[in-house]
Amino acid sequence: MYIYKYLAITLAFVSVISALNNGLGLTPQMGWNSNWINSYYLITYSWNYFACNINETVIMETAKAMATNGMKDAGYVYVNIDDCWAESRDKNGVIQPDSNTFPNGIAYIADYVHGLGLKLGIYTDAGTETCAGRPGSFGYEQIDAQTYASWGIDYLKEDWCNTGSNQPLSRYSIMSQALNATGRPIFFSLCDWGTDNPWEWGPTVGNSFRTTGDIKDNWASFMNNLNLQIPITSYSQVGGWNDPDMLEVGNGGMTTTEYISHFSLWSILNAPLIAGNDLRNIDQTTLSILTAPEVIAVNQDPLGKQGALVRSYNGGLQQVWAKPMADGSRVVVLFNTDSISADIQLEWVDIYVQNTATMTVRDLWARSDVGQYTGSYVSLNVPSHGCAMLKIY
Ligand SMILES: *[C@@H]1O[C@H](CO)[C@@H](O)[C@H](O)[C@H]1NC(C)=O
Ligand SMILES: *[C@@H]1O[C@H](CO)[C@@H](O)[C@H](O)[C@H]1NC(C)=O
Repeated sequence: MYIYKYLAITLAFVSVISALNNGLGLTPQMGWNSNWINSYYLITYSWNYFACNINETVIMETAKAMATNGMKDAGYVYVNIDDCWAESRDKNGVIQPDSNTFPNGIAYIADYVHGLGLKLGIYTDAGTETCAGRPGSFGYEQIDAQTYASWGIDYLKEDWCNTGSNQPLSRYSIMSQALNATGRPIFFSLCDWGTDNPWEWGPTVGNSFRTTGDIKDNWASFMNNLNLQIPITSYSQVGGWNDPDMLEVGNGGMTTTEYISHFSLWSILNAPLIAGNDLRNIDQTTLSILTAPEVIAVNQDPLGKQGALVRSYNGGLQQVWAKPMADGSRVVVLFNTDSISADIQLEWVDIYVQNTATMTVRDLWARSDVGQYTGSYVSLNVPSHGCAMLKIY
């Protein structure tokens, strides 16, 4: 049995580094990313052959879906175009969208997305070429930032392919300053896959920073990315969030129980909630997971403290994750990674509550109070790969 005293760890290691001061990312970003199309084809075919299967139609249809299916009301705002939108540079070095797939240009899409009350994100790469071989921003940071701003872009993800021996902090600083110089607030999402411990310096240049390689739509990949968050929870801060990669909810490679755990844990981790599925053809179950109001409220809590693993049982098979909330309450995820169901105990002392206290337990998925308990609470029969997400107040 291992005990992790996350508050003590936070106090010991919290890095008081000045966050990027662009006024964005006061809570983790919520939106959608077009990479699901790439992911889908990556499973079925090779990256090079089908990886660039995006176009203006799919982006605009997705924005329309997000604006009308309840996701916008739940807090989702960014519609993010990933790799493959760019084609070339003109003689002045200005980046040109792919003329086949984005014939009306990017400003046209930005206007449409803004008209829906949403924001538009775009993608580039810190190297000479993007991961899919499109033009990268290396040496073109200023002109690219100016171009994005002129189009009305609100969010930039910058990838890390083809960067040679460059250091992430030095390259991302250049783009960060170029974005700032445009005068337009543009959310800056760093994507160096955890190279050079971006959690240590990421908040000074970006609003979020990928902490892992790409997530895939299966249980092992989700667990791998989750485990990598355990030692770095204290680095995340308001304006600069750890990013364990997008959500796979709804893509079909995991069970509904597993997707509920994925969404619960990404929420308590203050991870960006970036949907990675086809919103144009979303089913009710997926939609109800992605829009669960009391779960999203945990992610969007203004205190901005990332949840941490505070106790585990049976060698880590059952886990207690906990997060302090702005209103003084605590939220926990009681997570069963085992292949059989299990009872999981929550001790008040693990969430810094006296064991003599009587507290109300609320089920955030059921959106109802469970009852009042003194000292501890046991969640019975948590299913294999499932969880209970509770507020203690
Ligand atoms: C640029 O940086 C300055 C200094 O941190 C900050 O006050 C300003 O709000 C930033 N502007 C934008 C558009 O990010
Ligand atoms: C746009 O992309 C989608 C998804 O890959 C595809 O189904 C559709 O045929 C494309 N439309 C056009 C006009 O290219």
